[in-house]
Amino acid sequence: MLDKKVKSIVLAAGKGTRMKSELPKVLHSIFNKPLLAYVLDAVNNTDYVDESFVIVGHEAERVESFVKTNYENAKCVLQYPQLGTGDAVNKATPYLKDFDGYVIVVCGDTPLITSETIKNFVEFHDNNHADLTVMSAIFENPKGLGRIIRDKNKKFIAIVEEKDATPEQKAVKEINAGVYCINWKTVSNAFGSLQNNNAQCEYYLTDIVKWAVGKNLVVQSYILDNNEEIFGINSKVQLAEATKILNKKTVTKLMEEGVQIVDPDTTFISPETTIGADTIILPNVYITGKNTIGKNCKIGPFAHIRDGATIGNNVRIGNFVEVKKSVIKDNTNVSHLSYIGDAELGSKVNIGAGTITANYNPITKVKSKTIIKDGANTGSNSVLVAPVTIEEHASVAAGSVITKNIEAYALAITRTPLKVFSNWVKGKIEQHSGGNK
Ligand code: UD1
Ligand code: MG
Repeated sequence: MLDKKVKSIVLAAGKGTRMKSELPKVLHSIFNKPLLAYVLDAVNNTDYVDESFVIVGHEAERVESFVKTNYENAKCVLQYPQLGTGDAVNKATPYLKDFDGYVIVVCGDTPLITSETIKNFVEFHDNNHADLTVMSAIFENPKGLGRIIRDKNKKFIAIVEEKDATPEQKAVKEINAGVYCINWKTVSNAFGSLQNNNAQCEYYLTDIVKWAVGKNLVVQSYILDNNEEIFGINSKVQLAEATKILNKKTVTKLMEEGVQIVDPDTTFISPETTIGADTIILPNVYITGKNTIGKNCKIGPFAHIRDGATIGNNVRIGNFVEVKKSVIKDNTNVSHLSYIGDAELGSKVNIGAGTITANYNPITKVKSKTIIKDGANTGSNSVLVAPVTIEEHASVAAGSVITKNIEAYALAITRTPLKVFSNWVKGKIEQHSGGNK
């Protein structure tokens, strides 16, 4: 337990010019989840933070609407115009009057930060009874980042931005990661006294270090050991890089837990997917969102699991199969070319190649459920028009379009009767070649 309560401020007002997009930077997604959501989840999953303030500016309404719908404990605060990171945090001060606890400041564009790191960071701050802790990291190429400046006794005394740094300061490899833990009662007065007389004419959050040192407060840095965690996204190239880093971490963890991933380089799995041991994931599988996949399954190659799938044990999801928001119980096979959406499949169900759950009505925009109970099967190329239920052990014949519920053990078939015209082709050929003579 910590000595104090913790709140967070997430900086997300910047424009993100280099994304070259109409979408605000922090709403760009990795595995269908916005960058800002990764940061807010990491903060919330520490279990220390009870309330967050998201500083919004560029495309504020869109960011605010995302935050409102998804995070009950977060409040958006408008910063307009954007006068720098110090000004951004200052915008939250009216909401934190008389707050006697810690405030963590993080950036909304660093999706790789983990809750473990934030937790360790706050605990480090708390254990040392610090007034201000800055997360730092050692970068071989620190270009563009603020440098951690120490005096000759190695005491941390300031952060200097690259644009304001002397050549000696530029040579420093310890950089400011942009994550802070602030003892609000002792340090928040700094925000009123920030100046913008620097190379960028901005109010720098980093200047609170100098302020706190001047007041003889306890200021320290916390050196991060995994630099990837503070990787900030500024462009779509970096967005792709972050996706790769996150994916590598996820697939490695899954393999360590006993999942067989044949080709980690072409397999994409969202970090919110759990997979049981001895499941085999074949190449070119793409899994986004939150899913649970059981043991001994075989997924892929070329399968797409889109979100909200709960898949049991010994399930086969084969090539060119898409699964969305569906429950699939043990020992069921969906082996080829199917779409399973908003469905519940029992156990020992066999889905024939090309079966489609027609779940969406584009006129009413309503999505409906398909239920296929234990032991039932569908023939190739059947269409199940939802809402519809196929009871236990019922059999849908190949090529059927099913528009009403099918009772247990029944055969359902919608097919025009087969007609065979003997020698019809032969007659045509003869007619054709006769005409040529
Ligand atoms: C900042 C730090 C730098 C550090 C780096 C780490 C300052 C002055 N410098 O620099 O020491 O090494 O982060 O990545 O803080 N933002 C606002 N309102 C503003 C300005 C920025 O909300 O008025 C937000 C941005 O959207 C972004 C974050 O604050 O999420 C950081 O701003 P950015 O402009 O990227 O700061 P850096 O120059 O990278
Ligand atoms: Mg930056």
